[in-house]
Amino acid sequence: MTPKKHNQRLLGKTAIVTGIGAGIGQGIALMFAREGANVFGCDINTKAAEATLAIAKSEGLSMASLHPSDLTKEKEVEKLVELAIEKFGRIDILVNAAAFCAFEWIEDLDYETTWKRSIAGELDIVFLTCQKAWKYLKINGGSIINFASANARQALKGSPALVHCATKGGVLSMSIQMAMEGGPHKIRVNTISPGLVHTAATDHLASDPEKREFLNDKHMLGRIGKPEDIAYAALFLASDESSWVTGADFPIDGGASKW
Ligand SMILES: NC(=O)c1ccc[n+]([C@@H]2O[C@H](COP(=O)([O-])OP(=O)(O)OC[C@H]3O[C@@H](n4cnc5c(N)ncnc54)[C@H](O)[C@@H]3O)[C@@H](O)[C@H]2O)c1
Repeated sequence: MTPKKHNQRLLGKTAIVTGIGAGIGQGIALMFAREGANVFGCDINTKAAEATLAIAKSEGLSMASLHPSDLTKEKEVEKLVELAIEKFGRIDILVNAAAFCAFEWIEDLDYETTWKRSIAGELDIVFLTCQKAWKYLKINGGSIINFASANARQALKGSPALVHCATKGGVLSMSIQMAMEGGPHKIRVNTISPGLVHTAATDHLASDPEKREFLNDKHMLGRIGKPEDIAYAALFLASDESSWVTGADFPIDGGASKW
């Protein structure tokens, strides 16, 4: 869906958005660029990143990307941040949407592979980008948007989300600490906890008609989310309209966490 009207709410700002190749990262990258931001993205998946860049190009938006880029590698994160500075000269917004996580029950998780890979793919990845971008965000102040989840606080029946609970609990509490450390520098740090959003990561659930109906029913509004549902909330958090908002978590979830 292309939003109908753009008010240039992010004009003059530069945003790093990770994981622009799919889902929530793609939705946010495109919305931010449509709202006037210069977007510097990245993805581990070259083809997916290029598809997003092609949409941006067709609309005449300001977007560049580093791909393939594996953000679990410290040097690649440094490269991402330095290239964004080289291209656009500043960083005002950082959105950490790139993620990988294995969903397995406790007895099936392999410590050396699936556990460690998921911790790196959902927790290390957020720490590294925030740490490397911090010195640039300090210059003018800025907004960091991280993704937590209902799983940061609760178990969802039938979901083998053990390592996801660990990473998202970590992202949530780490973001509050970062908000405290960032306050004096006017760096705001907030999290969004989405309900189930139809993305590459959830397509196996959302595309199955039986599961889809069950999942729709889990949301007060009777449907699972779209990436734009999340992007509109991220837009507020990235813009100056949220200049007194930090250390907060926003459940953007069609009411799923409240019933
Ligand atoms: N989709 C949901 O229902 C949902 C619900 C709650 C929270 N979230 C969170 O929102 C965020 C975005 O989720 P999504 O569903 O859009 O994910 P997605 O899997 O659809 O997209 C993630 C993107 O990140 C990229 N990526 C993965 N590992 C990477 C790495 N090491 N380096 C660079 N790029 C990498 C992938 O290639 C992909 O393009 C995640 O943190 C996720 O946990 C999503």
